[in-house]
Amino acid sequence: MFKVFGQETEKYQELYRPQVHFSPKEHWLNDPNGMVYYNGTYHLFYQYYPGGINWGPMHWGHATSKDLMHWKELPIALYPDSLGYIFSGSAVVDVDNTSGFGSKGKPPIVAIFTHHDPKAERAGRNDFQNQSIAYSLDEGNTWVKYRGNPVLKNPGIRDFRDPKVMWYARQKKWIMTLATLDHITFYSSPNLKDWKKESEFGKHLGAHGGVWECPDLFPLTFEGKTYWVLVVNLNPGGPNGGSATQYFVGDFDGSTFMPLNKDSKWADYGPDEYAGITWSNTGKRKIFLGWMSNWEYAGQLPTEKWRNAMTLPRELSLTKINGELILVSNIVRELDAIALKPVVSKAALSINQPEFKFEQKLPGQFKMKFSLDKLTTHTLKFQNDAGEQILIGYDDEKKHYFIDRTKSGVVNFNPNFAKIVYAPRLAITSNSDIELVFDYSSVELFADNGLSVMSCLFFPHQPFTHLTLVNNKGIILKNLEIVPLKSIWK
Ligand code: FRU
Repeated sequence: MFKVFGQETEKYQELYRPQVHFSPKEHWLNDPNGMVYYNGTYHLFYQYYPGGINWGPMHWGHATSKDLMHWKELPIALYPDSLGYIFSGSAVVDVDNTSGFGSKGKPPIVAIFTHHDPKAERAGRNDFQNQSIAYSLDEGNTWVKYRGNPVLKNPGIRDFRDPKVMWYARQKKWIMTLATLDHITFYSSPNLKDWKKESEFGKHLGAHGGVWECPDLFPLTFEGKTYWVLVVNLNPGGPNGGSATQYFVGDFDGSTFMPLNKDSKWADYGPDEYAGITWSNTGKRKIFLGWMSNWEYAGQLPTEKWRNAMTLPRELSLTKINGELILVSNIVRELDAIALKPVVSKAALSINQPEFKFEQKLPGQFKMKFSLDKLTTHTLKFQNDAGEQILIGYDDEKKHYFIDRTKSGVVNFNPNFAKIVYAPRLAITSNSDIELVFDYSSVELFADNGLSVMSCLFFPHQPFTHLTLVNNKGIILKNLEIVPLKSIWK
């Protein structure tokens, strides 16, 4: 039995229900919001509409976890009010009580979010998105909206939203990274209430196939040096169509972001990771989580009680390839806590026929890991008895990984869904490590230790139970492991 809003309800067992990813018990979900770690608890707030399975007046739903895997859904944290819907934003632990909402011994958690006023929008105004704050004095359980809201007024930019706030210790001030139509605007504040514009970034840099949304700014260290990563979500204009997460690596001096790269780089090349940002208050460790969907078809997915889920939490780091700094994402180590005994475990598997069938039935949700001394063209075919399939592999000529979901089951709810999606291979080594996490209706690919990442949804009539390797002559899979994962809802 699972507890939701304090009541025992059925387990999360409906068709397509993810077993190792967070999804709400019922109703619509989009972006992760207000992710903050405090006193051993990871808080996950999220864009939530409790009135149905389509996007509607936005609330902040709330769930918590002690281990980033098992989630407990709690009552809604923030409701729409006279200033509008509660759009995306962030939360911080105000350790020094700069806001005055708590005390030094009892720091408040402060949420910074966008108030979206639908009436002003309908009236044709362009200042309908403003930034507001709320605080919690009981570790995120209940929230009080600040009376002086909004704290940052719209200067006349239609898309003016998704504040991500962090403490810039060097200058003892808060920095807000805000998506402002086609660029980022940085603001600073001593107390989370009074905000001053610092600078703008990105009007002519990176990908601009759509509007910039849900940014994030945080430091990561590589070879002893600190770099700043600026994450900018973009919709549409992603590498495989629709929404996606791009990033820049550079420097930040408390006022201006100076990029080292001017082109687009992507935290996840797949079609189904969006609005990804990181938890605050986790120290040097940076943990990223995205919405596992795409605005192209998020409102049409064939689920009934709830709609949309989150990706697995991922730990971020930096590496250098051909002199360029690249963001690396790997599944958080906490996944090991739900790993069961491997059903396939081989030191090496040498395959000389073009097709090789595994006799082992695949578990419902699992992690698959293997290495190749020499990465060559190959395809893994995951099938069910209904003849549906998902193909995952690598094309050595084009130097890209791919996922083909054209025949993966229910695909006709949107013309953009049935397609093959690609991620370039960024690694330059001849060997490769590949990791896949399968859930009932998704797969996440982490190739080359997290250099090429793709999240991809699918909706088969039955789970994929057979694996065949095709197009694999002379391939050697090393350290091949298929590890079933325990459902997080049981
Ligand atoms: C991104 C987004 C945000 C906005 C929210 C509304 O998916 O469009 O920019 O705050 O969703 O639900």
